Amino acid sequence: MNTLSSTTGNISLDPSAAFGSDGSGARVTASRDARASGVKLAVRNLTMRYGNGHTALRDFNLSVKAGEMVVVLGSNGSGKSTLMKCVVGLNRPTAGSVEVAGCDLAALSGNALRQARLPLALISQNANLVKRRSVLANVCCGALGRHRTLATALGRLPRDEIETSRACLEEVGLLHLAGQRASTLSGGQAQRVAVARALVQRPHVLLADEPVASLDPEAADEVMRLLRRLATEDGLAVVCVLHQPELAARYADRLVGLRKGELDFDRHASEVPSAQIARLYVGDAS
Ligand SMILES: Nc1ncnc2c1ncn2[C@@H]1O[C@H](COP(=O)(O)OP(=O)(O)O)[C@@H](O)[C@H]1O
Ligand SMILES: [Mg+2]
Repeated sequence: MNTLSSTTGNISLDPSAAFGSDGSGARVTASRDARASGVKLAVRNLTMRYGNGHTALRDFNLSVKAGEMVVVLGSNGSGKSTLMKCVVGLNRPTAGSVEVAGCDLAALSGNALRQARLPLALISQNANLVKRRSVLANVCCGALGRHRTLATALGRLPRDEIETSRACLEEVGLLHLAGQRASTLSGGQAQRVAVARALVQRPHVLLADEPVASLDPEAADEVMRLLRRLATEDGLAVVCVLHQPELAARYADRLVGLRKGELDFDRHASEVPSAQIARLYVGDAS
């Protein structure tokens, strides 16, 4: 049953029936703005000390430009997720600053901070899709940050947002699955849907915390190829945490090594000796 008005859509409807056939015109505008070159993410002197007194990140610096893909490597507990959480605002850093697309987040609060965070998107190891809902409905959730209204609380979005969501699904090669339940997807497909949901946010900066950790090698490669393309073709600044140095070397422009919460190296991917990477994973040895 289609209850759409002319300007809004109910995102729980069967999308193939409700939204017409033409998703073609709506190329992803998600990251167009990000194409302008320049630093999109600047992390400066970031320190994170948790409530229990543990310092998980110390005086950390990172700068990522539009079109660049940086892979962060480090052993378990080295502070990779802490870094990601500080950047997206899930952790409140003890010291230092995070600048996104030219906005210093520390200087903002309330609605201004929410707006400044919109160009940031995070994907995680698990796609975290709502399994009983359609693929398209899941992707549409990426637009909710722009629409804090009663209508969206009831599951209705402007029609152009639904077209944007369809375009983002097309961007990850899964538009043909728009009407399918998320529960039916393979792990690799689910992660690509999570990427599409992130793209709906129109991010300038895409963070990925171990996005391929639960995927088989082929699916992992596909997700990495997608992230690489989003950097190269759409101009996103991509920061990806990985545990596979060989994947990192294949796809990253730069490799960043984290060791006990401190920067160990930040170099062009082809310039990092494998022994230096291996040292990240050997406990206290130096
Ligand atoms: N909420 C927290 N409270 C206290 N310590 C934490 C918290 N979250 C993470 N840590 C600690 O901070 C360190 C870094 O954690 P994390 O950033 O998750 O590492 P990684 O993602 O590199 O495995 C670890 O020693 C971890 O136990
Ligand atoms: Mg982690």
